[in-house]
Amino acid sequence: MSQLFPGAVVEPVELAEANGMVCIRTASVSDVQNLSVYFTGLSTTSRNKRFMGARTDFALVAAECVARTGRPGYFTLLAEVRQQGQHTIIGEANYTYDATARHGEFAISVADAFQRLGLGLQIMTAMETRAADLGHEMIAAETARTNAEMRGLAKKAGFRDTGLGDWQSVHLAKRLSR
Ligand SMILES: CC(C)(COP(=O)(O)OP(=O)(O)OC[C@H]1O[C@@H](n2cnc3c(N)ncnc32)[C@H](O)[C@@H]1OP(=O)(O)O)[C@@H](O)C(=O)NCCC(=O)NCCS
Repeated sequence: MSQLFPGAVVEPVELAEANGMVCIRTASVSDVQNLSVYFTGLSTTSRNKRFMGARTDFALVAAECVARTGRPGYFTLLAEVRQQGQHTIIGEANYTYDATARHGEFAISVADAFQRLGLGLQIMTAMETRAADLGHEMIAAETARTNAEMRGLAKKAGFRDTGLGDWQSVHLAKRLSR
């Protein structure tokens, strides 16, 4: 995709606030440590929303995200700023295909300092492209009714409310086009 950023799944984008180029790429086992640092650095609010509850074992969570990389229907995307040889993760999405339900499911987060700059939408778009390339036709997600950010992002990305949620959560889905 890019000579400058090997492994990028979409063209790198310039983000003025990040003071450099942002690359969205597939995670590999060598990312566990940096991903764990990233999760630890999220605000408590963002972390609780990302994991839909409190978690503290971020080394384990990061290892789980990356361990399944390479298995069919599974991938983790990282958004990373690269400047002066330093790589810093500022966003991620974890995708799993449920063969029984015949749809992909995901969880996503963007570092607090980089939220509301369009990065979440870019990660979602890269994830959808990747899922469509794998032949998947539908992506679904469940989020808390109180999570205005995720509901807003999903709406902007073209997801619709399936009505299958309950009083606490909203169930969202999008059909992928190839
Ligand atoms: C949800 C999240 C990933 C969005 O990432 P982001 O980079 O801030 O999103 P974007 O900047 O691409 O925003 C895209 C759209 O989402 C909606 N949105 C984003 N933040 C919002 C907010 N705080 N309130 C309402 N809508 C919001 C808007 O429609 C926005 O478009 P606009 O800026 O043109 O109005 C981010 O807020 C986050 O990491 N939250 C904590 C973790 C989480 O809740 N994950 C979801 C559950 S897995």
